[in-house]
Amino acid sequence: MGGNIRIDPWSSSQSTDYQRIIDQFGLESINSDNLPNPSMLHRRKIVFAHRDLDVIMRAKSKGNSFGVLTGLMPSGRMHLGHKMVIDQVRWFQELGADVTIAVADLEAHATRGLSLEKCRKNALDEYISNYAAMGLDPEKTKIYFQSNRPIVQRIGFTLGKKTNLSEMEAIYGFNGETNLAHIQAPLVQVGDIVHPMLDEYGGLRPIVVPVGIDQDPHIRLTRGLTSKSNWFNLKYGKNGGINISLSVQDENSSLMGINSDGKLNRGVRENLFSEISTNLSSIGFSDLIKNPKHGTLGIPSATVADYDDVKSVLLKLERKMGGLGLLQPASTYHKFAVGMTGDKMSSSKPNTTIFLTDDFKAIEKKIKSAFSGGKNTIEEHRLHGGNPDIDVAYQYLMYFFEEEDEALRELNEGYRSGKILAGEMKQICIDRATEWMQEHQELKQQNSHLVGNYLS
Ligand code: TRP
Repeated sequence: MGGNIRIDPWSSSQSTDYQRIIDQFGLESINSDNLPNPSMLHRRKIVFAHRDLDVIMRAKSKGNSFGVLTGLMPSGRMHLGHKMVIDQVRWFQELGADVTIAVADLEAHATRGLSLEKCRKNALDEYISNYAAMGLDPEKTKIYFQSNRPIVQRIGFTLGKKTNLSEMEAIYGFNGETNLAHIQAPLVQVGDIVHPMLDEYGGLRPIVVPVGIDQDPHIRLTRGLTSKSNWFNLKYGKNGGINISLSVQDENSSLMGINSDGKLNRGVRENLFSEISTNLSSIGFSDLIKNPKHGTLGIPSATVADYDDVKSVLLKLERKMGGLGLLQPASTYHKFAVGMTGDKMSSSKPNTTIFLTDDFKAIEKKIKSAFSGGKNTIEEHRLHGGNPDIDVAYQYLMYFFEEEDEALRELNEGYRSGKILAGEMKQICIDRATEWMQEHQELKQQNSHLVGNYLS
């Protein structure tokens, strides 16, 4: 396979060449040995890549606050794929993150034609009612509706100034036929992702967004726009240290000491530099190489370990001066479980997945008719073994229902060796899925009184 991979959040087909995706889009691999208390999704490399997850982990180890954000489209029904995201959110919550969840009702309204009332009802009945059962702490989880939080649209609009159609085309493959709602929705999503950093919504702190790999275009867009919006750029120096340079933009040029005729206003620039110096000395840096005329300032003694603090000081200064002061969001990426029919999992194709409202009969039926990696006859299967990598029942045990690595390994080996038959694997999956669902439904009942607490 040659050429470039395109990732399209709206497409029904996706590349599964994960190493190439990592290389092409500059993601970093996740090594679960380096994570505190890795979940089964990390241990099995289902959550396989990230951007800036180290920023989150450093915040955690310093005892600083950090947040996690995700969003849901309130147009379908909650299925196992959605559960996987909430499992990751809960993992971050257990590490100490505060949680924000966006209900993308504007997006669903614009792209799927649902009324906002219908979106609200659907979000509550189909999604939020499951969260308490899945262990999200209502005290530390805030769920909002896009239509109720105008700030997310405003940010989309403000940051939208820093992109253009060509870039949207390059990121998303848009063209002249593209519906304008599809251009606006990602900008509102940018607003969703960055707004928890604003002072009114928790203040400046790193935010991580766990997503399926198909959503990376949104993350790339958001990271690009936040860094373009920053008033102070940071770079490591060639010979060590950290270099700061001013990013002069329409909205800050006079504050940056540029007169309307484009000439340097030395007085303003000098004052800005002493303001920067004062702020840097508050975190222990006094030895600075200043070049106000060029708008650059070097901190020769700063190291990798100081980067986050320097960044934070400058973002706070930007805010004080009237800028947004946004940190690039971090992200983690998960692979997709195969759809049960062999197609992609999709709310609109009920047989491709298990919904959290499916009854036991429906679950059994779906697993029984799922795509199998077994051989055609028992004799052949015993002789050559099955292929768990394409066997839906095994894959669903791996992604969702079998927590114990050792038990999973035995299933894998048993299947490959021919000891476990395809029908037996399906039965094991049915049993475990039913157990999980039973417990989930019980917890959902027990915790239903907590649902209102999530809404802000
Ligand atoms: N667009 C996402 C979807 O189709 C929903 C969404 C809206 C979202 N805002 C978000 C996802 C912010 C992650 C982060 O499912």
